[in-house]
Amino acid sequence: MANREPFSLYEFFAGGGLAGLGLHGFRTTFANDLDGAKAASWRANHAEPDILKLADVWDLTPDDLPGHADLAWASSPCQDVSLAGARGGLDARRSGAFWGFWRLMTGLAGQGRTPGLIVIENVMGLLTSNQGRDFAAVCRALHDGGYVFGAVEADAALWLPQSRPRLFLIASRPPVAGAGEGADPFHSPRIRAAHGALPDDLKAGWVWWRLSAPPRRNTDLAALLQPDDAVAWLDEDKAAALLNLLSPLHRARLDAAAASGERRVGAAYRRVRLENDVKVQRLEIRFDGLAGCLRTPAGGSSRQFVVVCQNGQTRVRRLTGREPARLMGLPDSYALPTSEVAALKLMGDAVAVPVVRALADQILRPLLEGAVRTAA
Ligand SMILES: C[S@@+](CC[C@H](N)C(=O)[O-])C[C@H]1O[C@@H](n2cnc3c(N)ncnc32)[C@H](O)[C@@H]1O
Repeated sequence: MANREPFSLYEFFAGGGLAGLGLHGFRTTFANDLDGAKAASWRANHAEPDILKLADVWDLTPDDLPGHADLAWASSPCQDVSLAGARGGLDARRSGAFWGFWRLMTGLAGQGRTPGLIVIENVMGLLTSNQGRDFAAVCRALHDGGYVFGAVEADAALWLPQSRPRLFLIASRPPVAGAGEGADPFHSPRIRAAHGALPDDLKAGWVWWRLSAPPRRNTDLAALLQPDDAVAWLDEDKAAALLNLLSPLHRARLDAAAASGERRVGAAYRRVRLENDVKVQRLEIRFDGLAGCLRTPAGGSSRQFVVVCQNGQTRVRRLTGREPARLMGLPDSYALPTSEVAALKLMGDAVAVPVVRALADQILRPLLEGAVRTAA
């Protein structure tokens, strides 16, 4: 296949458009989201704002989609398949939006406009929700649509100082030779287990995509933070009340950081944990140079805190302003909503840009150029 970049892209569940920003060599010809605030952010960061159609995916028809797409990207809502959530599964209302997307793919096929590639991005919980039935159902849909497919687990922490493992299920209409063996770090044990649980006819259509790890990351959380004097710190009482929520293990981590005599930067989340059958609110802290996975703020408890130990002092503040965007790999030129909560909501369920970029460079463009690497 001749190189004919830019390849065309439909960006479903587009949010702030981070998938499109990572898809180097692709041009978005259609985007969709139903959230007005997110759509505004997408448009504010896109040279062709009118491409985004603000609508429920279920209300779209194939006639809304222009021309032909080389790639359809779907970051469908993950709450119901998240390991942290209620796990209603793909039949549940929000994650059911995937099937609204799939209805469109089927409609395009009926018009001879099947996208060459599809990427489905989700939380790792998609592998196991509903005892694996959701994942099998998505693979079945791809198989019946004439795609070969395979999944990789990529943690943004390889590229950025944020722990954010995500599942990328990549499907190709052009057949790809050689199923090979899952061996890369990106073919994680949980991906191999999910593959192993698929029925034989779906396993036959599976491809172990090859992805190389990036060079060793040389930035940590501290490097992405705003200067200490440009942010608002919690007052001593509030900080002490928060740090009182540390369990003995996490208190020991803080004490070790404070005793190091160096400037140490940690990230912390409040979580509700079951201890001796009683729900207890805890502050969980890490000093491994990573932020915890950004989440959308719900009820205030999922705001991430920054804890800095220096010169015998421990200070605490919220992760704020530009910081969540930087943790997703966005340049400071990305226009964020003015409301802090809206910015966090936007970043909390976005996809990390350099991870998408790696998939585009190593798998997606090579597939469209007929030069893909698999594990065969
Ligand atoms: C996981 S986020 C994807 C974010 C995007 N990949 C990014 O990087 O910013 C899911 C998005 O799907 C949108 N969404 C949820 N249900 C939808 C539906 N029924 N139709 C269209 N969009 C929907 C949400 O507003 C949200 O922006």
